[in-house]
Amino acid sequence: MLVYVPPHPLIKHWVSVLRNEQTPCPIFRNALAELGRLLMYEAARDWLPTVSGEIQSPLAVASVEFIDPREPLAIIPILRAGLALAEHASSVLPATKTYHLGISRNEETLQPTIYLNKLPEKFADGCKIFVVDPMLATGGTMVAALNLLKDRGVDNKHIKVISAVAAPPALQKLSEQFPGLHVYTGIIDPEVNEKGFIIPGLGDAGDRSYG
Ligand code: PRP
Repeated sequence: MLVYVPPHPLIKHWVSVLRNEQTPCPIFRNALAELGRLLMYEAARDWLPTVSGEIQSPLAVASVEFIDPREPLAIIPILRAGLALAEHASSVLPATKTYHLGISRNEETLQPTIYLNKLPEKFADGCKIFVVDPMLATGGTMVAALNLLKDRGVDNKHIKVISAVAAPPALQKLSEQFPGLHVYTGIIDPEVNEKGFIIPGLGDAGDRSYG
């Protein structure tokens, strides 16, 4: 498994805004959206297939390259906070489909429950999929989401996980269970406390995004 923390000052900036307990709800949500935009941009590098050709500019014929619109791309935001992180997906990634997953973690047992599943029975062959959730804490939520993709025969190499903050327990689980997966995250924090919160982390990203 590859875990990538893009070394970019804007990524550091938005993670810092998210960390600040004084950041109010709408600013927090916008910061998640901006961070998501940058992480998806990085994750798309060398991954999205392009098609080349020639077009006439106002002055000359130019060689051009576009994202190949025939190649299927999908975004899976995990509700609730994944919605904010995926906010700009459609402007970064042309021609994507969005499939929502609602997963909530029990506050005591920390076990995930899937309460909404809008995934298709089958993804198009070779579909490249971004799974978006700001927090990878114990990893239970992301494992539940990726198992749904495994059930549908999706190869790990066609999946990129986008998260704001990741912690070692989640990264360990993902690397053991989903070899070949790529994870793009704003930062890796050192630990998860007994209540399942990443330390220092961002707090509860869902509550901080939506109140
Ligand atoms: C939070 C977070 C992740 C999950 C991470 O969601 O947004 O989805 O917990 O925890 P894990 O790695 O230990 O499974 P939560 O269940 O609080 O739902 P919400 O986004 O609706 O607030």
